[in-house]
Amino acid sequence: MKGIILAGGSGTRLGPSTDGVSKQLLDIYDKPMIYYPLATLMTAGIRDILVITTEEDQPAFKRLLGNGKKFGINISYTIQPSPDGLAQAFILGEEFINQEECAMILGDNIFYGNGFKKLLNKAKSNAQEGKATIFGNQVRDPERFGIMELDQENNVLSVEEKPKVPKSNYAIVGLYFYPKGVSELAKKVVPSKRGELEITTLNDFYLQEGILKAEILEDGFTWFDTGTHESKLDAANMIRTIEKNKDQIICCPEQIAYEQGWLTKEELTNSIEIYSKNEYGKYLQKIIMKNK
Ligand code: DAU
Repeated sequence: MKGIILAGGSGTRLGPSTDGVSKQLLDIYDKPMIYYPLATLMTAGIRDILVITTEEDQPAFKRLLGNGKKFGINISYTIQPSPDGLAQAFILGEEFINQEECAMILGDNIFYGNGFKKLLNKAKSNAQEGKATIFGNQVRDPERFGIMELDQENNVLSVEEKPKVPKSNYAIVGLYFYPKGVSELAKKVVPSKRGELEITTLNDFYLQEGILKAEILEDGFTWFDTGTHESKLDAANMIRTIEKNKDQIICCPEQIAYEQGWLTKEELTNSIEIYSKNEYGKYLQKIIMKNK
């Protein structure tokens, strides 16, 4: 299965902080924003990842992530010339996807919670069985999101992008799993009134075919769309609290890679040397000691 991180967009809501750097490279507490969605795809066991960015920001992403070797994965890059919508990712990524199943996560979405791996595995096996999966999270301001309407058994009845009168308060979060053939289907999406190839239109195609599944992020699960200064700070505070309480760095790609057996001790040691003067390096050292 392939994975895409969509990290383009203009980031205007975070100006002037994003005038000189891409939003997804700003930090959330102790690591760059893009590490969090990267960690999510890695937790799903996905090792072939395409990072889609603007043309001007691509060199900085390459500087940070390289070819993925330091995380035991393969990272490739594609440019999105203009922010024409989330569903465009599957058209731009067609060659990379190469007719396989594909997950996509937005570069500014952070997930953390119990049982996440199980949910990801479920979505993965749905994709292998020819079904798409979206994830729902209850929100206070549903008119700001894609919204799913559910029946008693959590079957999806409808999906709508930023409805004025939402049929539920379950937001469709920025993580999607699709079966083979997603690029062909994405090409059938017609631009919306706001001129974008909407992911919600793509999800509606799967719904009409009867092959759209929903998983709900239950109470106690943390999801952040860090697109505003306020939500970015809320996310950073939450990460700090979790890490302090657990004495752990969460969403650490090197740790996930090491624990999955994608990095050898020697390879992890390289990163420890690079970060030897900071807490991140000390933490990676602890990982090696713990897993001796
Ligand atoms: O965060 C979840 C929401 O994300 C979903 O509930 C909505 O259904 C979905 O449309 C999307 O809504 P947003 O209004 O939050 O999308 P936004 O335009 O802010 O883009 C989300 C991220 O994707 C942002 O970091 C920029 C990036 N992006 C966006 C577009 C439209 C791209 O890289 N390329 C694009 O073409």
